[in-house]
Amino acid sequence: MNILFVSSEVTPYAKTGGLADVCGSLPIELNKLGHNVAVMMPAYRQTKGHPGIEPLNIKFDVPIGNKIVRGRLLRSTLPNSEVPIFFIEQDDYFDRPELYRHKGEDFKDNCERFAFFCRAALEAIRILKLDVEVIHCHDWQTCLIPAYLHIEYAHCHGYETIGSLLTIHNLAYQGIFWHWDMLLTGLDWKYFNWHQMEFYGKLNLLKTGLTFADGLNTVSPTYAQEIQTDPLGCGLEGVLQSRADVLCGIVNGVHYAEWDPAHDTHLPYKYDVSNWQSGKAACKSALQAELGLPVSPRTPVIGLVGRLSEQKGWDLVTDLMRRWVREVDVQWAILGTGEMQYHDILAQLAREYPHRVGLRLDFNEGMSHRIEAGSDIFLMPSRYEPCGLNQLYSLKYGTVPVVRATGGLKDTVADANDENLWQQRATGFSFDNYSTHDMEVALGRALNAYHHQPEKWQQIVETGMKQDWSWRKSALEYVELYQDVHERRLEAYE
Ligand code: ADP
Ligand code: GLC
Repeated sequence: MNILFVSSEVTPYAKTGGLADVCGSLPIELNKLGHNVAVMMPAYRQTKGHPGIEPLNIKFDVPIGNKIVRGRLLRSTLPNSEVPIFFIEQDDYFDRPELYRHKGEDFKDNCERFAFFCRAALEAIRILKLDVEVIHCHDWQTCLIPAYLHIEYAHCHGYETIGSLLTIHNLAYQGIFWHWDMLLTGLDWKYFNWHQMEFYGKLNLLKTGLTFADGLNTVSPTYAQEIQTDPLGCGLEGVLQSRADVLCGIVNGVHYAEWDPAHDTHLPYKYDVSNWQSGKAACKSALQAELGLPVSPRTPVIGLVGRLSEQKGWDLVTDLMRRWVREVDVQWAILGTGEMQYHDILAQLAREYPHRVGLRLDFNEGMSHRIEAGSDIFLMPSRYEPCGLNQLYSLKYGTVPVVRATGGLKDTVADANDENLWQQRATGFSFDNYSTHDMEVALGRALNAYHHQPEKWQQIVETGMKQDWSWRKSALEYVELYQDVHERRLEAYE
């Protein structure tokens, strides 16, 4: 099939979370399966420094409100692949220090920036003469594309049969703007109604996408169910229920070219399932030293990597840490950036207990790999988790995940209960209720196995390491979905 990915983040050119990993790796897997895939993203300041990006000397104009805005196209290929990636350059919008916000404040013109991006992507199809059957959109930043396709492009030559699939990576981020931003979209006010683009008096871009896309999916089956009810529906549960017939869940895959301890260039020592004990021990000592922690082989290291946001359960983590730092012999290896309140608490804990808390408050790709390799346990007590990638990386790195059973965490980690252990399928420890107490119990079970049940621990580690979460299976599911979406579009056209 001919697929165009449009995304606001793509690894390695710009990343704030898992969305970038997905859009930098799923296209490569689809291409390996014989499909024609291209990718489009904005040319941010941080993007343009990457080697191999060439200007195409193509300029184009799109209407935004009552202005005409000029953009340019740049081109490269995704690393180690033949997948073309096109960058939409518009320096007033994208030449900024960060992607969506600065110093904790969202950019005021985010609606304008991404309305431009959506229009520019559609324009680029025509200019580049791309043959596209399905546009694969991701999150609110690309949600005007399905609306433009249905409303403005429905009778435009070459666009009539293009279907749209919208992947919801996180329903909590909806792209909500004041109603006057409707003017920037160029769409008629008649669409500003509670069935389509309006949400409690405001413009809601995610809702717009949910309404107009030909197909919808989330990044795990459990999350696809959870968002059809309150509270994880975040006010959109009604819209999602009304579109349940075109909504499904496909679990994310792992790009093992980047995330495999056997050939991970960020690690001081490489290992696989045959020598994980020595390999992890070496990575653990190196990590302890790098984070300024005492190098102590038998002290369990609990790793955490992620955005410091409410979603990820940092209130539970910091609550437990406050108690455990004095009493329990574990070390914490933490990497994250985000909300100031968590920055402050974590920084204070690291200052007061440097022998227990190793902390990096920045975005550091190499360190995220070294924490995966050097930790014994990886903790993800998320309030909700559409899929989650770090638990999948942890499985490959022999780092036992302790997770809250929600969304993708529930779909990918099998609790070490008696039945799962007996069936040789246990890969981690999970808990149901969002509470410090329940998280503490799950961590306690993990630590008990680590210290006192070495055979059980070995079984859990090795079961995880042997699993295959590569993109292949999920990519095949996406292909089926693209076919469905395209057929539905063709039927509507005829
Ligand atoms: P989300 O997309 O909700 O943030 P995921 O688990 O899907 O969560 O993906 C997060 C991705 O971002 C992972 O690849 C993780 O390693 C990476 N990541 C998050 N925070 C940091 C950080 N501070 N430094 C480096 N990588 C990070
Ligand atoms: C989102 C979700 C995360 C998911 C990622 C990639 O940011 O929070 O759970 O893994 O998107 O799909």
